[in-house]
Amino acid sequence: MMKRTAKAVEGTGISGLSHAIQDGWKALSEHEIEGLKGAGVFFRRQTPGNFMMRLRMSNGLSNAAQFRTLAALSEEFGKGFVDMTTRQQIQLRWFHIEHVPEMWQRLEQVGLVSLQTGLNNIRGVTGCPAAGLTPNELFDASPVTRHYTEAFLHNPEYTNLPRKFKVTISACLDNCTSPDSQDVGLVPAIKESAGGEVYGFNVFVGGKQGSGGYTPAQALDVFLPPHDAISLCGAIALLFRDHGQRQDRKKSRLFFLIQDWGVEKFRRELECRLGHSLQSAGQDARSSTHTDHVGLFRQRQTGFNYVGLVVPTGRLSAAQLLGVATLAEHYGSGEIRLTPSQNLIIPHIPDHMVGDLTQEPVLQELRYDPPVFVRGLVSCTGRDYCHYSLIETKQCALDTAHHLEKTVGKTAPLTMRWSGCQNGCGNHTTADIGFLGKKVQRDGKTIEAVDVFVGGRSGPDTRPGTQLLADVPCEELPQVLEKLIPYMNR
Ligand code: HEM
Ligand code: SF4
Repeated sequence: MMKRTAKAVEGTGISGLSHAIQDGWKALSEHEIEGLKGAGVFFRRQTPGNFMMRLRMSNGLSNAAQFRTLAALSEEFGKGFVDMTTRQQIQLRWFHIEHVPEMWQRLEQVGLVSLQTGLNNIRGVTGCPAAGLTPNELFDASPVTRHYTEAFLHNPEYTNLPRKFKVTISACLDNCTSPDSQDVGLVPAIKESAGGEVYGFNVFVGGKQGSGGYTPAQALDVFLPPHDAISLCGAIALLFRDHGQRQDRKKSRLFFLIQDWGVEKFRRELECRLGHSLQSAGQDARSSTHTDHVGLFRQRQTGFNYVGLVVPTGRLSAAQLLGVATLAEHYGSGEIRLTPSQNLIIPHIPDHMVGDLTQEPVLQELRYDPPVFVRGLVSCTGRDYCHYSLIETKQCALDTAHHLEKTVGKTAPLTMRWSGCQNGCGNHTTADIGFLGKKVQRDGKTIEAVDVFVGGRSGPDTRPGTQLLADVPCEELPQVLEKLIPYMNR
C-alpha cells in the first residue's frame, strides 16, 4: 500500500517527506515544504511541527466509512476535530510528519487522497451536494465531476499549472456552487437541436476572488453535452498550463490569460486544441434563487428524503464525525455529502424514519433548523492555524452570530462570511454581510478589527459586496450589527 502511495506522489514532495521522517521536520527545506503542498500536506507556521492535510472529496461526496476513518485519525494523530472547507474538502490538523505514511494508507483504504490539493494544481472540483437527489436540477452532474477528477488526478500533465485552478460542475438550478468565482464554471443549460432538447452545460471562464479582487467569470458562449465536459475542462487547464503567465504570481490566474487574449481568441484556441468546433451557448437554465440545501427535503426518489445539517463554521469534532456516520448508516444508505457552505447532507432517509431522525441528539448540535445567523455562516481558518490571518475568525464569527440570535431574533435569511485577511478565502465579497480581518490601532494598542461589506451575491446576477464600514473592532462588532441588520434591505 505504501508503495502505491509513494508512486502516486512521485515528484510532488515525497522526497521531502522521507527526508523529514528520517531527520525531523526541522530539516525540511523551503523547497521541500512547497513540494509537500502538492501532495496535500501543509506545514503550518502557527503550529510548528504540527501539519495540516487537505483531502479531496469530489462533488462533496463522502460516506460513513470515510467519516469513521477521519474521526479515528483526528483522535489518534490530532486534537480530535476536522475542518470542512468551502471546496467541499476536509482538513486534518495537528499530526506529525512521521504519521503521514500511515494516514495516507488508512485514507486510501476508504478512497480518500490528499494529492494535488495544494500548489499549482486543479483543486477539489465542487458540485451540487444534492446532485441526483434534488428534484430541482436539470440532471445529475456528479458523475461528470467524479470522472473529471479521475482524469487529472495522478496525471503529471496537470501538476505544473501556472497557478491554482478551480472548477465547479453543477446542474443544480439553484446556484449552490458559485460558478462565477471559479476558473471554470459549468452551469445547467438547454440546447435546441434537430432531435429535440439536449440537457448539458454552458461554460463560464476566468472567475476569481483573489489576485486583485473579485472578478466574475465570463460566458464563453459554449454549450457542452455532458459527455464532452471532461475533455473541455481538461483542454482549458492545458491551455492555461501552456500559455498562462508564470512570472508574476499575482497575474497568473486564468483570468489574466483571457484578459490578454480576449474571450473570442481564447475560444478559438480551445477549438484548435480540441480539434473540433464548439457549439454556441444554450439557454441558461438557472433560476435567480439560491439554496444552501439546509433543512429537510424530499428527494426525486419517491419515499426518500435528504437532510442538510449546519456545522457551525465547518468545524466537526471526532464525536460528531462518528455521530453523523452512525446516523447515515442507520437512517440512510451510509452516504454523506459536504456542501460548499461548510455544512453536510445525509441522503436517502425513508419517509417513515424522518420523525425519529429529527429527535437524535446529534441534530441538537448539527441542526437542520438552525437560527438564521448560524445557518448562513462561513468562516475561513483564521489566526489559530493560518499565519496570514490578522484576526481570530471562527470563534468570533460564532460569538457574533449567537449575540445576534439573542438580540435581533427572527429575520430573513442572511449569509455572513468571514475572511481573516485580504486573500479572501472565506468568500466575504459574495455574502449579504462580509467581514475582512485587519489590525487597527486603538488607544495606543493594536487590536483585531474588520471591514464590513454588504450586498454581495453569487449566481446569474452576481455582484461583489460594497464596503459599508471600516475598522470595526471585533469586540464591538456584535453591537454594531445588532443595530445595522434590522435596516438592511435584502
Ligand atoms: C494568494 C492568495 C491566497 C493565499 C495565500 C491563500 C492561503 C490559504 C491558506 C494558507 C489556506 C489554509 C489555511 C488553513 O486552513 O490552515 C487556505 C485555504 C483555503 N483557501 Fe485560500 N488563499 C488565497 C486565496 C484564496 C482565494 C482567492 C480563495 C477563494 C475565495 C481561497 C479559498 C480557499 C479555500 C476554499 C480554502 C480551504 C481549502 C480548500 O478546500 O481548498 N483562497 N488558503
Ligand atoms: S483568508 Fe487569509 S486568513 Fe483566511 S485562510 Fe485565507 S489566507 Fe488564511
